[in-house]
Amino acid sequence: MSIFVTGCTGYIGSHTCVELMNAGYEVVGLDNFSNSKPEVLYAIKQLTGKEVKFYEGNMLDGDLLRKIFDENKDINMVVDFAAFKAVGDSVQKPVEYYINNVSSVLTLLSVMKEKNVKSLVFSSSATVYGDPETVPITEESPIGGTTNPYGTSKLFVEMILKDLCKADKDFKVCVFRYFNPIGAHQSGLLGEDPNGIPANLVPYIAKVATGELEHLNVWGNDYDTPDGTGVRDYIHIVDLAKAHVNGVKKLEASEGGLQVYNLGTGTGYSVLDIVHAYEKANGIKIPYVIGPRRPGDIAECYADPTKAKNELGWTAELNLEDMCRDSYNFAFKKK
Ligand code: UFG
Repeated sequence: MSIFVTGCTGYIGSHTCVELMNAGYEVVGLDNFSNSKPEVLYAIKQLTGKEVKFYEGNMLDGDLLRKIFDENKDINMVVDFAAFKAVGDSVQKPVEYYINNVSSVLTLLSVMKEKNVKSLVFSSSATVYGDPETVPITEESPIGGTTNPYGTSKLFVEMILKDLCKADKDFKVCVFRYFNPIGAHQSGLLGEDPNGIPANLVPYIAKVATGELEHLNVWGNDYDTPDGTGVRDYIHIVDLAKAHVNGVKKLEASEGGLQVYNLGTGTGYSVLDIVHAYEKANGIKIPYVIGPRRPGDIAECYADPTKAKNELGWTAELNLEDMCRDSYNFAFKKK
C-alpha cells in the first residue's frame, strides 16, 4: 500500500514522510517547491534509506493528480499538507490563499472520488479556534472567528470535509489541528527553512542565535499571562510527524466518518519561556527587545491533547529542551 503525501517536501510534510517510511509505508509525493527545496528529497532518502516516488507540480492540476493515481494504483490514502501558511501574507493575498488552500483540496477530493480513494488525513490548525474563551482547548471548543484568510481557509476545508463525510459514508477523514510545531529532525538534515525574515517565533530566534539577525522583537508584554507575553503550545516537529502514522492506522481501521484531533503537548509556554529555554539548551544569549503587540495575536492558546491520547494512542514525548536544541542544531548546520 502507498500513501500519497501532498506538500511532501515542506516542513511538516518532510518529517512525516520520514516517519511513514520508517513505519513501513511506501510514499508517493507531490510538491511544487513553492516553499521548500528539492534537496529535502535527498535528506529523506538519507534518513530512511528509501525514496519518495516524487512528482513535481501543483495540487490544483487535476490531470497531474489523475496521472499520479493511475501510475500508482496501490495508493489508498492521502495525507494532505500542500498549502500556504503565512498568516500575514494571507491578509495581503486572500484570493491566492483561497485558491491554493481551498480550491486545491476540492480538486484533490474530486479526483480521489473519481479514483475511489476515500481516506484522507488533513492538516488543519489551532487557528480555527480563533481567540479561545477558555484554555486548554478541546476538540469540542467552538471553532470560527478566524482572524485571517489563512485560518479561514483551514476552517472552510474542515467544513467541506464534514459535508463530504455526511454525504458519503465510506469517506474516512482524520483532521489534525496543529498547535505550534517547532524544532527540527535530530539529525539536523530536516527542519524549517523559511525564505526571508521569519514571521514565527522559533525560526526568528534561530536566526538571532546564528547571528543573522541582531535581536528578537517580543510582540507585547502586557497580555493577561504570567509574564505578560503570549503563551502557546509548542510541539516538537518529530512528535507531530509521528502522530500522522497513528492517524493513518486509525483510518485503516475506520469504517468511515470524520474525526478531529488536537496535536499539542497540553503545556503552554510564554515567549520569554522560549527565549530562556533556547539560551539554556544551547548555552547562548538571545538578545531581545520588547515591542508592541502584533495585530491579530491572542494571549493564550494551548491544547487539551487527551482525545489523541485516548483514541490514537499518541502523546508528545519530546520536551522544550529537545525542541530548542534541535532547532539550533539545524540552523547552525544550514548556516
Ligand atoms: N512572537 C514574538 N516575536 C516574533 C514572532 C512571534 O514575540 O518575532 C510571539 C507572538 O506574538 C506569539 C508567539 O511568539 O505570542 C508565537 O508566534 P508565532 O508567529 O510563532 O505563532 P502563532 O501562534 O502566531 O501562529 C502559529 C502559526 C499559525 C498557526 C498557529 C496555530 O504561525 O500558522 O500557530 O496556533 F495557525
